[in-house]
Amino acid sequence: MYLTKEEEAMLDGERGEGLAIAMRILAKVGDMYGAERLIPIESAHIVESSYQLTGDSGIEVFDRLIEAGARVSVPATTDPCAIDFERWRELGIDEGYAHRQIELARRIVRIGCAPTWCCTPYLHANVPKFGDQLAWSESNAVAYVNSVIGARTNRYCAYLDTMAAIAGRIPEFGLHLDENRKGTVVVRMKGISELRDEDYPVLGYYLGSELGNEIPVIVDMPKGANPDRLKALGAAGAAAGSLAMYHIVGLTPEARTLEEALGGDKPKDRLEFDKRTLESTRERMCSASGGEVDLVATGCPHASLGQIQRLVRLMEGRRVKDGVEFWVSMSKYMERLIGEMGYLDALTASGIRVISDTCCNNAPLRQWGFKRMVTDSGKYAYYAPTNLGVEVAFTSLEGCVRAAVEGVL
Ligand code: F3S
Repeated sequence: MYLTKEEEAMLDGERGEGLAIAMRILAKVGDMYGAERLIPIESAHIVESSYQLTGDSGIEVFDRLIEAGARVSVPATTDPCAIDFERWRELGIDEGYAHRQIELARRIVRIGCAPTWCCTPYLHANVPKFGDQLAWSESNAVAYVNSVIGARTNRYCAYLDTMAAIAGRIPEFGLHLDENRKGTVVVRMKGISELRDEDYPVLGYYLGSELGNEIPVIVDMPKGANPDRLKALGAAGAAAGSLAMYHIVGLTPEARTLEEALGGDKPKDRLEFDKRTLESTRERMCSASGGEVDLVATGCPHASLGQIQRLVRLMEGRRVKDGVEFWVSMSKYMERLIGEMGYLDALTASGIRVISDTCCNNAPLRQWGFKRMVTDSGKYAYYAPTNLGVEVAFTSLEGCVRAAVEGVL
């Protein structure tokens, strides 16, 4: 990979060992993927914020970077970590575990990352614009910024995101390049004139599980998509498969027409998505079909203000049944906002537990004794049985409220 004189000097340690470490790793990755050069990035979003993901090696890596004088050179936000920094005692998290997470977080902030602990930075703290080059690694965020905003990032992995943030650069390959952003499979909506909130994660789950690394181009999409619905679609697709980008003809910025979305190429395949596919996919997302409920979880990806307002309205005059936990995950930023608006008190009064800085996917649900989760998130629906060891029922937000109030599916 070609390096400029300045980059060679960075690689040789002339601008400090911290930068040299980052450059050595980026140069190796660039060579591995056949990148011709490094390109500047506008921002990074890093996932090694969770001690559950990194264990002690995360602390060691950041200690090494701090010792070497590394600092991020572009805005870098952080994904949810493994605890709610204010509620971990109340949630019964082991003290030693919580302190290791706090130590990891301190080190991440020390090299200059922003303590957002949030998986939807694109909604407030780190909002890219069309065409921006990024190094992001939270999969729902990658799908959102590539598809809905038209910014450019591959699905990066833990630590490579931080190396890019330190160097302010990333090797130019994959979705950074025009030719790799073309749609490859056309998915036509057939006989579907309307999609409800809870249908978007189902569509995403279908795309993720059916299409592998392909880039779908959705044609004849019913009107009504909005940022919350599209974030739910991308999150489900990225969890159930490796969806990093999709086009919706007439809606997403690189798909004003089908021809534009395909970039002049012929699609590899054409699929139809009809009501039967919608229902059979929804069934695949549920491993629980009845019985008592012990956990209801929403806010995956982290809840937006609009989603919280809806939940407050749905809970008016109702209360979560004794013995059922109802959790809504969000960023601390959002928690403070809804605190000032009175929604936090309203949620708490109805028996809902607000969880910030983290989410269910970072929690030892099985060890805490939970057996069955009800959720409106396609990403939780995928991870609950595979990662967390609990049965799952996927439903609408209204279905979540009903299950929490009645205590049964
Ligand atoms: Fe975010 Fe956790 Fe879901 S990181 S996308 S709330 S699994």
